[in-house]
Amino acid sequence: MRVFVTGGTGHSGSYIIPELIAAGHEVTGLARSDTAAAAVSALGAKVRRGNLDDLDGLKEAAADSDGVIHVAHRQDLLPSGGIDAVAAAELPIMLAYGEALAGTGKPLVAAGSIGSPGNLGRPATEEDLALPGGDEHKGTLRVRNVVETAVVGLAERGVRSSVVRIANIAHSTTDRAGFLVQLIALAQEKGFVGYPGDGANLWNAVHIRDAASLFRLALEKGPAGKYWHAIGDGGIPFREIAEAIGSRLGLPAVSVPADVLMLPGYFGFLANIVTQNYPASNLITRRTLGWEPVQPSLLADLNNGHYFSAS
Ligand SMILES: NC(=O)c1ccc[n+]([C@@H]2O[C@H](COP(=O)([O-])OP(=O)(O)OC[C@H]3O[C@@H](n4cnc5c(N)ncnc54)[C@H](OP(=O)(O)O)[C@@H]3O)[C@@H](O)[C@H]2O)c1
Repeated sequence: MRVFVTGGTGHSGSYIIPELIAAGHEVTGLARSDTAAAAVSALGAKVRRGNLDDLDGLKEAAADSDGVIHVAHRQDLLPSGGIDAVAAAELPIMLAYGEALAGTGKPLVAAGSIGSPGNLGRPATEEDLALPGGDEHKGTLRVRNVVETAVVGLAERGVRSSVVRIANIAHSTTDRAGFLVQLIALAQEKGFVGYPGDGANLWNAVHIRDAASLFRLALEKGPAGKYWHAIGDGGIPFREIAEAIGSRLGLPAVSVPADVLMLPGYFGFLANIVTQNYPASNLITRRTLGWEPVQPSLLADLNNGHYFSAS
């Protein structure tokens, strides 16, 4: 297939492009700068110069392709407009792809979040829809759910659309800015590794190379209108992650009281994320697409020489 990929210079995209090429696909990657163009080209893809705010350009690129994988995101909008601005910029992009691909049956695979179905009191499955994210949820991750809902909804317009919900922690030897990197930096700054309350809340993780193979499988054979769960390790108590980081840094893991003022004191803007419980299953993804995560688990990957090289 001729695949148009956005975000090819980012953490996930830089694994997705080689994954697609190794499987025999021809990839064109979006690049908004000379640096990005060189990086995309070095991965073996053709370059299409452009920016996420050029919707006509994205439509044209989608129409010229046999399928689209979209993992770019406007993280530059976070400081000024927060997650609301990121979601508001993302929705028209998905609708533009929808216009370009309507009635073609071509695949569109976009990134989503494992937290989007909310805490159901049981492991969330691929059949659990994203919670509605209206105005009352402004400022929370939930506002971005509208993007997942829109992508999945494009199935009704003849697009083979799906969303890969990525685990809370996506790890690899090239992870530069993910949650793990941020938790390690916080621990180094504070002198201990904090966990919220009793740290029993469950997080999940995926090696980004495994996530990349899931994006490829969803593109190649995923049915329309589905969610896929990119989870390698499900249900890791947050406290275990903190203890594992602490053992590598030689720092104690310490409970931060689950108090609305104390949590931000340690975790800053991550406070309302670290307290969440995200039990989720990947069974439907594995059965439907034949996906199996084979890369190192989160705790094994902490020893890959990347995360603690400076300590
Ligand atoms: N645990 C996780 O990591 C996790 C969990 C859930 C969901 N997600 C989602 O998964 C997606 C992929 O995340 P990631 O970590 O792979 O992203 P990333 O490493 O932050 O990369 C972002 C990409 O977007 C591109 N980009 C940003 N603004 C652009 C613009 N205006 N025009 C064109 N390209 C632009 C960047 O290109 P430049 O090189 O030009 O900057 C880069 O390639 C995101 O939507 C993220 O929110 C991640």
